[in-house]
Amino acid sequence: MCGVFGIVYSKETDKLGDSLIKGSRKLVYRGYDSAGFASFKEDGSTMLRKGPGMLEDIIKSKNISEFSGKRGIVQLRWATFGEPNEENSQPHYDSDKDIIGAHNGNIVNTEQLSEQFKAEGMTIRGTNDGEMVVHAYEKFYNQYHDMKKSMMKAQTLLKGDYAFVCGNTELDKLMAVKMGSSLYMGIGDDFILCSSDLGSILQFTRNIVFLKDGDLVIYDDHEYHIYDIHTGKDITRPPEECNIKIEEANLVGYDHYMIKEIHEQPKRVQELLNLLANSQQLVKNFIETLNQADHVYLVASGTSYHASIVGAYYLNHLAEIHAVPVLAGYFNEYYNISPTAKDVILCVSQSGETKDVINVINPILHNTSAKIISMVNVTGSSIAQKSELVLNVSAGLETSVPATKSYTNQLFTFLYVAALAGKMKNLDKANEIFTQLEKIPGLIQETIDTVKEECEDIAALLVKRDSDLYCLGYGIQYGTALEGALKIKEVYYKHCEGMYSSEFKHGPLSIVDKNYPILFPASPADDHMVISHINEIMVRKGNVIVISPQYKGYAKAASRVVVVPDSDHYFVPFSTVVVLQLIAYYASILAGLNPDFPRNISKTLTVD
Ligand code: M6R
Repeated sequence: MCGVFGIVYSKETDKLGDSLIKGSRKLVYRGYDSAGFASFKEDGSTMLRKGPGMLEDIIKSKNISEFSGKRGIVQLRWATFGEPNEENSQPHYDSDKDIIGAHNGNIVNTEQLSEQFKAEGMTIRGTNDGEMVVHAYEKFYNQYHDMKKSMMKAQTLLKGDYAFVCGNTELDKLMAVKMGSSLYMGIGDDFILCSSDLGSILQFTRNIVFLKDGDLVIYDDHEYHIYDIHTGKDITRPPEECNIKIEEANLVGYDHYMIKEIHEQPKRVQELLNLLANSQQLVKNFIETLNQADHVYLVASGTSYHASIVGAYYLNHLAEIHAVPVLAGYFNEYYNISPTAKDVILCVSQSGETKDVINVINPILHNTSAKIISMVNVTGSSIAQKSELVLNVSAGLETSVPATKSYTNQLFTFLYVAALAGKMKNLDKANEIFTQLEKIPGLIQETIDTVKEECEDIAALLVKRDSDLYCLGYGIQYGTALEGALKIKEVYYKHCEGMYSSEFKHGPLSIVDKNYPILFPASPADDHMVISHINEIMVRKGNVIVISPQYKGYAKAASRVVVVPDSDHYFVPFSTVVVLQLIAYYASILAGLNPDFPRNISKTLTVD
């Protein structure tokens, strides 16, 4: 994963540096291992400054604002091929330094290409796969001196999914290619630009061309030509006015985006409730699609998968819709046995760009008639574009890499759909839940207001013990437990395993010794099982911290209970996950880490 951005102005300009910086800041969520900036001047000279590290440090240390020129390229990197160092940072030069290009994606035959290109006499400077795209293009450009023909040939050598932006010193244009990774084009008054991120373009222009896989674009400041990269045929695609609202990231008095976004949850759920109430036809179409399915698969990764586990519980219990949560990464291996027109794949993704999910969608679009519908947080994202129906979970811009508010809004979307679907079937519990949905924002707010100190205290206890831990969940709380464990690992860098609590006795119980910490989000309605599972640990002297509404049974059985406000069983995942988010946040802070940008990861994972 990574992000690319390439702009062409009508004439050489000093504002190029600032434009590249502006574009790059919107790409940082895609990778923050390294960053690089390049420009082409009218006299044929180039500038390329890049290196490992955080974007703002690179902008400063390499004086990017002094960049001038007519054309510029930026790349933000999240390392897959080659460690994050200067050579592997993008953009890359070709052998003679008269071509500069950068990619997003994975070229899986990098090693073989590197050997081949070296043997052909090219200068290979690093081990990054993006460099191979530049050399593949160089190989044919030196032969044909034609952008389109050279890239059409180059793509036949490249195995993998990618988006690519590149320029030659001798031509007054840039070229961009979309081959499985996101890429958009924006048309301005005196410029044209392409970028992996729609929001980065919308800061410059609302005139957007939505590029498709297989598009090869050659553009200057005032005109663009799109070709089918396989056949070379012209494609006519005029720009569309794009009205998507882009929020600006702003800490407004908080120390980190993570804590700000945790606090935003009540407001975002309330806004979502209002939006869903005003989108009844869309929601009913969604429900009808689910009702008509033989199989409903909820396909997602990471946090979105955890929301899908709780979502499956809601759909099954409240609406009698038999939904199965499936990790996107293994759907094609275990579930994709000839889906039929009566199967529904509901893709759940905050970014709408996750490659594991797109890997599920693409073969279905090409080979079967199963329906693809989705829940995303980013309007116009690749997954949204590939879906027949889209519910936007409307959590707003989520800047912190750890997902928090997008998770609660995914949960709420599932609950709303399930309760309405059940109500339409006259199911009593669904009727009851549907009329109480407006209580959820208040429930989350009250939780945040009442548990803060206790979460800080538990975080301090975990940091003091400095060990691994478990987060167990039963029934409706399985997804919450997985999500809590993921948050703790992600921002506190300690291993926290999330597990279905009845599995714990099948081996992992042996890890428990005196005071071994176990977090246990639970609903009182599941006490018949949860109390047994707590007891199995407590008699072995473990330290079980239950997170639940007030309930005597848990108070008696566990070492400690973090009491969340009383609520219906179906609402408990909302309050208890907030406690786990806060514990993770405070543990991260106490450990001296930055929860917003955990090491080694990125917000949007567009690679395998
Ligand atoms: O954008 P997506 O929801 O598809 O992303 C999937 C995961 O990468 C993501 O949920 C990840 O696990 C979270 N950012 C972790 O907090």
